[in-house]
Amino acid sequence: MGFPADCFESGLGYQAQAGDNFIVTYPKCGTTWTQHIVWMLQQNGQPLPVGKDINREIPHLEQVGSEFVAALPAPRFIKTHLPHALTPYHPEAKYIYIARNPFDCVVSFYYHTQGFVKHYDFAEGTFADFFECFINGEVDFGDYFEHLVPWYACKDNANVLFLTYEDMVENTQRAVIEMAKFLGTQYSKQLKKLDVLNNILHHTSFAQMSQKQSRWSSKRPNYAAPFIRKGKVGDWQNHFSQEQAMRLVDKFRVYSAQTNIEKLWPGLLDDVEKKYGEFCWQ
Ligand code: A3P
Repeated sequence: MGFPADCFESGLGYQAQAGDNFIVTYPKCGTTWTQHIVWMLQQNGQPLPVGKDINREIPHLEQVGSEFVAALPAPRFIKTHLPHALTPYHPEAKYIYIARNPFDCVVSFYYHTQGFVKHYDFAEGTFADFFECFINGEVDFGDYFEHLVPWYACKDNANVLFLTYEDMVENTQRAVIEMAKFLGTQYSKQLKKLDVLNNILHHTSFAQMSQKQSRWSSKRPNYAAPFIRKGKVGDWQNHFSQEQAMRLVDKFRVYSAQTNIEKLWPGLLDDVEKKYGEFCWQ
């Protein structure tokens, strides 16, 4: 993943504090989008200025290390991809978890890995190559389901807001309001001013964010792959073979049998099976 090893190690040791706000995701599940929404909530509806890097404003714990995060002014806003067991915990910290269906996640993760040529030796890698790594949990931050399941189990905790990327796409306004309410009244009362809510929806729209991303990231030439790529639900349909789709359905069902995570995306597995209906699935 290309983070300095000492920062990664130090990030693992960060002691969460009361008032900290974590954005927690498995990679490619809508982290950057959520960072921008949360940043604008903090800033009275003002967008991230050109030249500023969202990953400095709401830093990635594993990338910058614990000293950097500890030195942020309170209340801190922190991004992490760490699995549940390693995420710094404090009962008075808040955790926004965004989940995305694994079919689209692996597609997005593939383009990310292929595009970051300085971080990964994968420029020539195919989707089929990446799929094998993903389904075996041999990618950055490990197995998708192992990341999701423990957070899903905490979804009703008072200090956890659990949303899906698909819900955010379907009704971004509702997601912004939920985030603001969850973070506290100083954020939700901002939204009473209509222009604040409208500003957030406008500046965090896919169109705006994709247009601005090169200007935000101009100081980070290593980052060749766009974090804002396509922004669609269902792009998996353009990438999966029948065999890949069925193997991921199978793995999903194994985890879902114990946890009900299938409920996060009603009808998804049926849709996959319908699309690949000829496959004799036993
Ligand atoms: P795609 O690669 O499917 O387009 P992360 O920030 O966790 O790396 O997630 C990246 C994914 O979120 C990418 O998915 C990206 O396009 C999508 N994304 C980023 N900003 C978005 C926005 N404003 N609206 C919808 N999707 C967005």
